[in-house]
Amino acid sequence: MSEDITQDSSGFAAHARIDTTRPHSARFWNYFVGGKDHYEVDREIGDQIKGIFPGLVDVAHTSRRFLGRAVRYLAGEQGVRQFLDVGTGLPTADNTHEVAQRVAPDSRIVYVDNDPIVLVHANALLTSTPEGRTAYLDADLYDPESVLRAAAGTLDLSRPVALVILNTLGHVADYGQARDLVRRLMAGLPPGSHLVISDSTATSEGMIAASEAYNSSGAVPYHVRGVDEIAGFFDGLELVEPRVVRVPEWRPDGDGDGAAPVDAYGGVGRKP
Ligand SMILES: C[S@@+](CC[C@H](N)C(=O)[O-])C[C@H]1O[C@@H](n2cnc3c(N)ncnc32)[C@H](O)[C@@H]1O
Repeated sequence: MSEDITQDSSGFAAHARIDTTRPHSARFWNYFVGGKDHYEVDREIGDQIKGIFPGLVDVAHTSRRFLGRAVRYLAGEQGVRQFLDVGTGLPTADNTHEVAQRVAPDSRIVYVDNDPIVLVHANALLTSTPEGRTAYLDADLYDPESVLRAAAGTLDLSRPVALVILNTLGHVADYGQARDLVRRLMAGLPPGSHLVISDSTATSEGMIAASEAYNSSGAVPYHVRGVDEIAGFFDGLELVEPRVVRVPEWRPDGDGDGAAPVDAYGGVGRKP
């Protein structure tokens, strides 16, 4: 079952809120993962960054495959049936619900993003199996309690949930605040819940230069962090092996990933 949406919570058509005068993260990232939902302003900075640091294309593709493996692991080996995907981005191949419901058709997924273009395309995220359920929330990571309240319309928050936040926490400039937002989201989920995070890391000069170029483009800035800082998001959780590693190295399962010098780290942690 899926919830249809045509308008955002404020009642205005989401189309009217789309700003094509400056790059937006969801559209920029969609350009990097090979999607088709971007504007000239996103492609311009995208091409500039591909020139500075071609490795960002690998980050985009390997982190989507990391998402697939993490969700397959959670739905398969851990029996997780509920997913909360915050900073969803534009629909692309193998969205969270498609991966989860291939393993367990009764999985429920709530997507959360605050970009109007994601809202416009969100119906593509609402193609649930009949046994499962998907929903989309036009909501803000900076208000975790509201996200949890709204997610409870679809998810049973007394049962384990996997919170998925990929390539999004860099938008929160202050590291302490980013950790606090993650902590508050996890606080609303019961023991046995999981946290899945991956993010670009300041592990090469190319990535740092790419980040500087992006941040001077007029887009909402993105802060690439150190590996220790990515690992710090999992404090208080039991890290699943192989802990926090470069994303292609996280439990490769024959999808083409393996050891590769990609500037993105990720992991999965379990709430005890
Ligand atoms: C780089 S994209 C990542 C998309 C997807 N998670 C992936 O890894 O392919 C970052 C996403 O975070 C969303 N985002 C940024 N700030 C947000 C906020 N405060 N609340 C909700 N979503 C936000 C953006 O709109 C964008 O879709």
